[in-house]
Amino acid sequence: MTHAILFVCLGNICRSPTAEAIFRVQAKGRGLEIDSAGTSGWHDGNPSDPRASAEAARRGIDMSYIRSRKVVAEDFERFDLIVAMDAQNMRDLKAVQPADSNARLVKLLDYAPELGISDVPDPYYEDNFPEVLDMIELACGQLLESL
Ligand code: 4NP
Repeated sequence: MTHAILFVCLGNICRSPTAEAIFRVQAKGRGLEIDSAGTSGWHDGNPSDPRASAEAARRGIDMSYIRSRKVVAEDFERFDLIVAMDAQNMRDLKAVQPADSNARLVKLLDYAPELGISDVPDPYYEDNFPEVLDMIELACGQLLESL
C-alpha cells in the first residue's frame, strides 16, 4: 500500500509543486500524505513560479501555500513512492537514495504512456505551462487510479 507520495523536479517551483497541488485535489479523502521537493535547493523557501500558479488558478487549483524545498535523506524514509518529473531528476534521486531506503522511484509520465514521451518538459524555460499542466493532470489522475 502507498501511503505517502513525494513529487520531485529540479527547482520545486514549476512541475513538482503543480503535481502536488493537482494530486492533492484529485486524491482528496484518500488519506495520502502528499508533498513535493526539488533536487537543487536553488529556490529554497520561495513560492511557486507565478506562471504555474496562474495556470493552476485558472483550473481552480490553489498553489499559494507551497514553498520550495530541497529533497533530504529523510524523504526516502518518509515517502514510499517518489515521483520524478524527468530522467535527470531520477538520476539525481538515485544518487542520494540511502542504501536502506525502500522508497520506490518512478517517473510521472510512466503513468501516461499515451503521451508518447517519458519526461515532463521543463516549463521554466519552455514557457508552455498550459501544455505541461494538461500532462500533469492526466498522469496524476492515472497514478491515483493505479494505487
Ligand atoms: P522545475 O523548473 O524544476 O519544474 O521547478 C525549474 C525551475 C527553476 C530552474 C530550472 C527549472 N532554474 O534553473 O532556476
